[in-house]
This record gives sequence, C-alpha cells and structure tokens, in this order.
Amino acid sequence: MDDMYREEILSHYKRPRNWGPMEAPDLEFEDTNPLCGDELKVMLKVGEDRRVTAVKFDGHGCAISQASASMASEELVGKSVDELVALDKSFVLDLLGIDISATRMKCAMLSLKVIKSAGLGGAVDWEPETPPSEAEVR
Ligand code: FES
Repeated sequence: MDDMYREEILSHYKRPRNWGPMEAPDLEFEDTNPLCGDELKVMLKVGEDRRVTAVKFDGHGCAISQASASMASEELVGKSVDELVALDKSFVLDLLGIDISATRMKCAMLSLKVIKSAGLGGAVDWEPETPPSEAEVR
C-alpha cells in the first residue's frame, strides 16, 4: 500500500499539477521552509462568492513539499476562503498517505501554511508539532 502512495508522490513531484505563474491572482502567499530554504508560493483566483476558482503553485523543494502542493492544488477549487483557513495538517497528511517523519514534517506542511496564509491575508503559524510516536523514539 505504501508503494502506491510513494509512486503517486513521485508522479506529482515529477509532473506537478497546477504549477507555474498566474496573472493577477486575488490571493497569494509565499513562504520558506526554514530548515532548508526551499520556497513555495500559492496563487488563487476567488469568485464573488469567495470560493476558489483557480489555483497555481510555484517554487521549488523536495519531493514531499512539491507533491503535497501539487496534490493539494487538485482539492482547492470550489472551497471557500474560510474553508481554506480552517484546513489542518490531516488535509495534507491524508493526501500524502505515508508516514512523514518529524524531520520532514515542515516539507509536508509548507503547502498548507501558504494556502492558509493566502486565505487569511497574512502568515499563519506552522501547524503544531505532534510528539514523536513511540516507534520513532525507539
Ligand atoms: Fe526543502 Fe523538503 S527539503 S522542502
């Protein structure tokens, strides 16, 4: 099962969906993973009903960060701006579908952070860290 998710992650990494510039986005936000310096930007078009009508990501990073942004991009159209701001880490972790180690968690969460920040119009905090599982401690 894990293999299936890994292949999906690699496919999104090699051919990220909804990638590249967007002219005159209604909302945008760019941030950096402080652990590696990789940058990710999200750009959104929003309709009069405050629902997302188009999304683009741009930037560079590792497979986990690129794939999580690419996968998330396929889920955002139709969501309201309020729904974006209310997303939590399970949104991204469920899309990735594999266990993400504590050291790679910021890679996975970078896409969520820029999405929520774009919705809010300012930087949100990183998602709270979860304590390492017993398996990781051992
Ligand atoms: Fe930079 Fe993952 S190593 S975002």
